[in-house]
Amino acid sequence: MERKVTVPDLQRMKEAGTKITALTAYDFPFAQIVDQAGIDVILVGDTLGMVVQGLDTTLPVTLDEVIYHSRMVARGRKRALLVGDLPFLSYQVSREDALRSAGRLVKEGACEAVKLEGGLPMADTIRALTAVDIPVMAHIGLTPQSVHRMGGHKVQGRRRGRGPGQRERVLDDALAVEEAGAFSVVLEGIPLDLAEEITQQLTIPTIGIGAGVHCDGQILVLHDVLGLFDRFTPKFVKRYAELGRAATDAIATYVHEVQSGAFPDDAHSFLLRAEGSEASGDGSRPVRRKRAIG
Ligand code: KIV
Repeated sequence: MERKVTVPDLQRMKEAGTKITALTAYDFPFAQIVDQAGIDVILVGDTLGMVVQGLDTTLPVTLDEVIYHSRMVARGRKRALLVGDLPFLSYQVSREDALRSAGRLVKEGACEAVKLEGGLPMADTIRALTAVDIPVMAHIGLTPQSVHRMGGHKVQGRRRGRGPGQRERVLDDALAVEEAGAFSVVLEGIPLDLAEEITQQLTIPTIGIGAGVHCDGQILVLHDVLGLFDRFTPKFVKRYAELGRAATDAIATYVHEVQSGAFPDDAHSFLLRAEGSEASGDGSRPVRRKRAIG
């Protein structure tokens, strides 16, 4: 295994000009797959509401659910930095709530950092978390927990101004989260020139999703990348595999073989006697044929 990725490593990567790779994961087998592929950061995102639970937004996801998924991911990853997402209403009401929620992600979910959405209004919360050494990844631009304010999952920062979602405001948000102590910031759904400007102005790494090539790293939702989520595909998603289709084809073959009697065949059945060997024991329990094992 390569050396474990830590929070300070991301800063070093920005300084060295090494791109940071990040993906979401929500369970043990995919955490293993993602980790073994060499990803630097695994985020247990509240997108689990959409791609795992089948919800329309991330808003109903609970802290207990994120913790549940984080524990599974933690068991599957060895190298990647594990970041847990603070879901809607687990950190906005009070700083105490934020501290307790983030603390639970670290303590119960085995996360090494937490992510929260919001810029300027979240600066004090980021300050409170970093003061007790909980590293914070900020998330600005298109923040899915603000779906109702934005009127949908819409690109932000296209229009000039300092209102929420406007260009200068997104830049202010970026500066505010860095000043408050965030160790990195996700830039979601903003024009690539704005992401470039932010990436140049900040000393902490920017991790883009739908924010173009100039960010210090990139993150995508695992189920989008692998073709496991079909409800919609945002423009910024590149599908690197079609696992959903491959799984449906495999299962359709299984259905057909069970219906036709082709499965299970001898190779996948237990017989009374092992092939070419003595009977095992009193013969009352099935003996696996060598062929089936090899
Ligand atoms: O919840 C999530 O998966 C995210 C990523 C899309 C950045 O916030």
